[in-house]
Amino acid sequence: MTKRIRKAVFPVAGLGTRFLPATKSIPKEMLTIVDRPVLQHVVEEAREAGIEHFVFVTGRNKAVIEDHFDMAYELEDTLQKRGKTKEYEALMAQLPAAGATSFTRQQAPLGLGHAVWCARDIVGDEPFAVLLPDMVTMAREAKSGRCLAQCVAAYEKHGGNIIAVEEVKPEETHQYGIVSVGKDHGATFEITGMVEKPPKGTAPSNLMISGRYILEPEIFPILEKGEKGAGGEIQLTDGMKGLAKSQSFHGVRFDGRTYDCGMKLGFLAANVAFALANGDIAEPFKAELKKIMGA
Ligand code: UTP
Repeated sequence: MTKRIRKAVFPVAGLGTRFLPATKSIPKEMLTIVDRPVLQHVVEEAREAGIEHFVFVTGRNKAVIEDHFDMAYELEDTLQKRGKTKEYEALMAQLPAAGATSFTRQQAPLGLGHAVWCARDIVGDEPFAVLLPDMVTMAREAKSGRCLAQCVAAYEKHGGNIIAVEEVKPEETHQYGIVSVGKDHGATFEITGMVEKPPKGTAPSNLMISGRYILEPEIFPILEKGEKGAGGEIQLTDGMKGLAKSQSFHGVRFDGRTYDCGMKLGFLAANVAFALANGDIAEPFKAELKKIMGA
């Protein structure tokens, strides 16, 4: 029987250079999709998948993230006194339970593998999830769940390590971590290899590693070696390749949409998609869009 996945790691220590100048003073994870920070969408996905403890690997200038997941006493008191019950209750509903968050710092942005390794003591000796906050997922329909819920279901079936993947155009594979496909079960499949940013024309498939993982704790001693890979960074993909020598890895073809909010195009598309899925503003927003498009 597999263990329960209770903890999730959110690496949020990157510099966000693709969103300068906004990210000079605002962490990119705090940019908003409709009415909440990108990171909150991702934390909600983790909570939906049964995660109980949220581990944030932060860096300099990211203190506002810690505040966002804490009580805001004066604000909450004022909302209550002014009878703004709906707003107050919405804030309370998204507040993690006391003691359910941990924050640690990656002192220098040495790569995603290094950021995950920074969470080793907080995670301890149990399988855990990793969610890249850049990637925001939307379920195809509510009952199919978002990406991490589908990864947890795959973990309960296969055990070992799980990686969510998504199809990309063959000419874009050199920008991503790419997997090789072994025994195929349809929604899930055995992963027989991984490569980070393969040179053009050499990718083993068009399935990119899309930012949701379930990993066994044996990944930590491998990451600890600090071996540098693509771009001179300590890559999580390289760590996982090392672990794949002794443990199984399965891929999950996510049934839904993923938006890469680390890029302007993906971030803007996510705002449009979430606005159109938001009952309060969908119709007037559609009318605005039509006006802008001149339709
Ligand atoms: P990215 O490379 O996309 O993030 O890493 P970045 O460095 O912030 O972005 P750009 O390229 O400068 O615009 C993917 C995720 O991994 C985290 C980032 O915060 C992001 O959520 N990350 C990356 C770290 O936490 N530490 C690192 O050393 C690198």
